[in-house]
Amino acid sequence: MNIGIDKIGFYVPKDYIDIVELAKARDVDPNKFTIGIGQDKQAVPFPYQDAVTMAASSADSILTAEDKKDLGLLIVGTESSVDESKSTAAFLMDLLDLPEDIRSFEIKQACYGATAGLQTAYDFVSNNPGKKALVIATDIARYGIKTPGEVTQGAGSVAMIISQDPRVLKLDHKSVYMTRNVGDFWRPTFSKTAFARGKFSNEVYVDFFQTLWNKYQAKYDVTADDFSTMLFHIPYTKMGTKALRTLEGKVSDAKYAELTKHYQASIKFSRAVGNLYTGSLYLGLLSYLVNAAKAGEEVLFFSYGSGAVGELYSGQIQADFEKVIDKKALQKIIDDRQKMTIDDYERIYQVEYQDGTIVDPKTITEKFYLSEIKENERLYKKLK
Ligand code: CAA
Repeated sequence: MNIGIDKIGFYVPKDYIDIVELAKARDVDPNKFTIGIGQDKQAVPFPYQDAVTMAASSADSILTAEDKKDLGLLIVGTESSVDESKSTAAFLMDLLDLPEDIRSFEIKQACYGATAGLQTAYDFVSNNPGKKALVIATDIARYGIKTPGEVTQGAGSVAMIISQDPRVLKLDHKSVYMTRNVGDFWRPTFSKTAFARGKFSNEVYVDFFQTLWNKYQAKYDVTADDFSTMLFHIPYTKMGTKALRTLEGKVSDAKYAELTKHYQASIKFSRAVGNLYTGSLYLGLLSYLVNAAKAGEEVLFFSYGSGAVGELYSGQIQADFEKVIDKKALQKIIDDRQKMTIDDYERIYQVEYQDGTIVDPKTITEKFYLSEIKENERLYKKLK
């Protein structure tokens, strides 16, 4: 049975800061941020937005009544959860008008969560032919104002419907994975911002890629020549570049040039949005689908979540993907955003809603929003 991604869509907050302006405000050479880190813009969510509202928005962009009828599984991958008990998935039931006979839960393993969801969805569909699974990645990446990680922040969500006879990407059901207890990045429950050993995290990431790529080649008897594209987890675009560069000199010059060209197409959205944590790999897939993908291509995916879990798997772009992927509409989401000043970004960053907060719907520009916090319970609404 062919199983994979039948639909994929994303949501990004409508405001962003310009990375050159951020560099100037921090007294840093802008080339460090645009070339050294590889970012141009950074999405900034409003305080009435969170992992729940962004997940609702990305899923809403692809779900039809027909899809909802066939759904049997909903998985949300996030490390920006709003509740230590209730899953982000449960909050989505009303917002998305989902049917009750659905198994739903949240997965956390740093930026690996959505890939764990995707592979679980694969197994679900193979055991329940005809049923569909909704997998959502949703995160707000925060390191804090004036920290080294600030330039690698971002926010957004990617939603995917996994089904039989997928129209976007067929998963090959070939994968290798690994887990190590590593202290490269963590966010204790008391903290809204992450702690990271940034450079160490780069080293672990590259080491995981090399280890998994060696395992993948040995297990499936393949080489880089079997793939035209490699997509990477891209918390900031220089990080994927570091993994890709490990292939230089080990594959033919023509293959390296092809992989580099395709990688550049896959990072366009991330350069303009920033870090989606677990959605980053899948924002890369969307960027590639919009900017360069060809039907029939074999694509290798490198998923990495600090802490750390890595997985390398492959899939094939499907013949009809252009019927499902509305390239112009997806590009418009990136283009139709507005720039926020660094002062406004810093002001919004500090806002923290407390118990008793009631948000005035007249101030909202998004379909889904946090409307109230009552007895410490977060309540959400959808603008009609
Ligand atoms: N012009 C061009 N390039 C310049 C430059 C200039 N003027 N000045 C510096 N650079 C280059 C440097 O040479 C360097 O390039 P390389 O990495 O290729 O060597 C790059 O800019 C960054 O410079 P530094 O290493 O000096 O930067 P830094 O000390 O500010 O740290 C960082 C950068 C480690 C990425 C930091 O931003 C950070 O800690 N970020 C947060 C952690 C992070 O993003 N980790 C990876 C994510 S892990 C993950 O994805 C988490 C998960 O699972 C949830």
